[in-house]
Amino acid sequence: MPQIMIPQNQIKNAKMFSSRYDFIKTLPKGIKFLEAGVLAGDFSLYVINEVAPKISTLIDPFNDIDWHAPEYPAPRWDKREQHFEFVKKRFLDIPNVNIFKGGYEEFVKINSEKYDFLYMDYDTTHESIMSQIKMSEDIMEDNAILGFNDYNIYFNETKTGEKMGVVPAINEFLYKNPNWYVYAFALNDNLTSDIYLKRS
Ligand SMILES: C[S@@+](CC[C@H](N)C(=O)[O-])C[C@H]1O[C@@H](n2cnc3c(N)ncnc32)[C@H](O)[C@@H]1O
Repeated sequence: MPQIMIPQNQIKNAKMFSSRYDFIKTLPKGIKFLEAGVLAGDFSLYVINEVAPKISTLIDPFNDIDWHAPEYPAPRWDKREQHFEFVKKRFLDIPNVNIFKGGYEEFVKINSEKYDFLYMDYDTTHESIMSQIKMSEDIMEDNAILGFNDYNIYFNETKTGEKMGVVPAINEFLYKNPNWYVYAFALNDNLTSDIYLKRS
């Protein structure tokens, strides 16, 4: 598939934000929030504090290292096996939080809830982004927002020829699905930006 742009009429009303944190401040209070790819729950906690969701569902295999450790005096857990305990403890006293230990693809098989704001922040391969959209479509409320972190590109080709990264996958999806559009875009300090989609 050659490089594809987002059609202008599917982006023309999008709002631009300085950061994902500024975008989150615009969300209505009490919505149903889902995050796939949580790591330590830093962003989840920000959303919960700003939005006070009716439900917060945090999905991750929770078997990783603390990638955000450089931002702290020391890693918050040492071994991968301690990752889940850290997150469980962190959210223990926060109401309406469901923690799912496993991949998003496992979660959607057992889930019967629909969400207002779904945030994807794990695998950035073309194939995975396409499947993240497909899995999310079924569990989005009307008017829901589907957000992706890392809207960027890596200039190496995959075995099947697609360019890697979130940009080609999202652009291709929007091009092929004219009932979807870009609702907002959030910059940051290094262009691992967020893009937020809606369907009409
Ligand atoms: C970039 S980090 C998430 C950062 C987090 N969203 C934040 O902003 O602080 C990626 C996370 O995705 C998780 N992950 C990997 N495969 C996953 C899958 N199939 N479903 C959900 N999460 C997954 C990893 O365990 C890791 O914690």
